[in-house]
Amino acid sequence: MSKVDIRDLRDWLDDVEKLGEVTHITQEVDPHLEMGALTYLNGKNSEQTTLLFEKPKGHKGDARVLFNPIGNSMNRLSLAMRTPPGKTPIELVQYVKEKFDEKIKPVSIDPKDAPIYENVWMGDDIDLNYFPTPTHWVRDGGPYIGTADVIITQDPDSGRINLGTYRQMIEEKDRVGYYSSPGKDTLLDREKWWAKGKPCPVVSVYGVDPLLFICAATGFPKQESEYDAAGAIQGSPIETVPGKITGLPIPARAELVIEGYSYPDGGREEGPFGEFTGYYGRPGLEQTPSIEVKAIYFRNQPIMTAALMADHPSCEQNLFLAVMRGARVWRDLEACGIPGIHGGWSVPSAAGGFGMTVVSLQQMYAGHAQQAAAIAAQCAGGAYFAKFIYVVDEDIDPSDLEQVIWAASTRCRVSEDIDILRNTWSTYLDPSKNPNEERPYGSKALIYACKEFKNIKTFSRRTALTTGQYENALARWDELGMPGKAPALKVFDNPEEELHI
Ligand SMILES: Cc1cc2nc3c(=O)[nH]c(=O)nc-3n(C[C@H](O)[C@H](O)[C@H](O)COP(=O)(O)O)c2cc1C
Repeated sequence: MSKVDIRDLRDWLDDVEKLGEVTHITQEVDPHLEMGALTYLNGKNSEQTTLLFEKPKGHKGDARVLFNPIGNSMNRLSLAMRTPPGKTPIELVQYVKEKFDEKIKPVSIDPKDAPIYENVWMGDDIDLNYFPTPTHWVRDGGPYIGTADVIITQDPDSGRINLGTYRQMIEEKDRVGYYSSPGKDTLLDREKWWAKGKPCPVVSVYGVDPLLFICAATGFPKQESEYDAAGAIQGSPIETVPGKITGLPIPARAELVIEGYSYPDGGREEGPFGEFTGYYGRPGLEQTPSIEVKAIYFRNQPIMTAALMADHPSCEQNLFLAVMRGARVWRDLEACGIPGIHGGWSVPSAAGGFGMTVVSLQQMYAGHAQQAAAIAAQCAGGAYFAKFIYVVDEDIDPSDLEQVIWAASTRCRVSEDIDILRNTWSTYLDPSKNPNEERPYGSKALIYACKEFKNIKTFSRRTALTTGQYENALARWDELGMPGKAPALKVFDNPEEELHI
């Protein structure tokens, strides 16, 4: 596969099908707790696939539910990024990072050509309960129609269109709650509309191309639209149509969309919800704002997308945020003029890929590692929630946790090489901050798991093979009956080359 030509969820699913990574479940399965349980167990299985529930129990219509589209699959993630599978994690991070330098604005197409308008429900027809909406966890406050979703809002001052992913619980047949942590763009946009005395126009997409979902769930600078980033990754504009109610740009090839307004009416009780941390989030602290639904649009036989939030590795966002946040942090460091960055990574097992960032760099000057760590900790792409920011040298692959731990254990002088930042951007969802009044502030440890710069030239030499040793071993691998495949190596120690210098 040399070229990836995907424009929507169905195209992506066709390609994933060819890789054998879709399980079609044609028997009846209950959206209430049963789909979530199967997805949780599937995530812990090394042969996991995405799960397409084709016969949701207790539902008349023909909607299907696709759970954890990306999961822990580099193949599925690569296809979502419109690139053939086969890249290493850091190669994919670099590929995406370079796409962030481009921007392709969405294009508005003729509504007659938009599959999303195949079915249009307004007025008395509006009924969210028609759709098979999962309740994921036994203590969830209700069915969550929005998990692998995209909420679209607009900054009323600049006109910038924002795409964000937010949990959304059905409250009534025409009302959904949407919870946003402080500092997120959806919340900031909403408050700007309300400050002007106007309701906030909202579109929400519940069956969505994984590319848009992934971009919506990634932290971009506040003034940038995720539509432009998604277009750049796709290599062509995302096709949109103006919403019939709000005029907001709706993905023309989406599966299921609602449109409406959010009013400053105090909201409703919402949650709890089993979260990315692997704990229930924000149990009843405050009321949550809602969207009053004025229209529902859907394709024939719509595919709803759902993301299970759970402990690792069953949590849908872990792998894709590892790549996307890694790429964003790398890009943000470069945008701040920091040289020598070799890679960024957000460790998947660290609370939904939010908890731990690793930056690999070639140290060039005193304070370089400390500067990079402080920016990685606070930049738009990496600041939210992250508790641990590791800086490693360029010989360490940041996506290989074992290498990172080795570097920390051999290069970090704990008494000298850890700095703490306090009162940082976090969320009410962090279970470690108690009592609840302590939330939503967080704190961060900057861990310099790299050689002390002052002594970098005389730092103990690491043991490594010569290139000759490695090539000889590769050449004899099969002849000697060595097990499996010889691993790829990046670090060598060739004393003769140094003698020539
Ligand atoms: C499945 C999923 C559900 C999410 N739910 C929420 C949520 O309910 N509230 C929230 O503040 N962030 C949530 N996030 C994280 C945001 O989508 C993420 O921080 C994003 O960058 C916000 O984008 P924005 O600030 O551009 O709106 C979720 C992410 C994923 C992948």
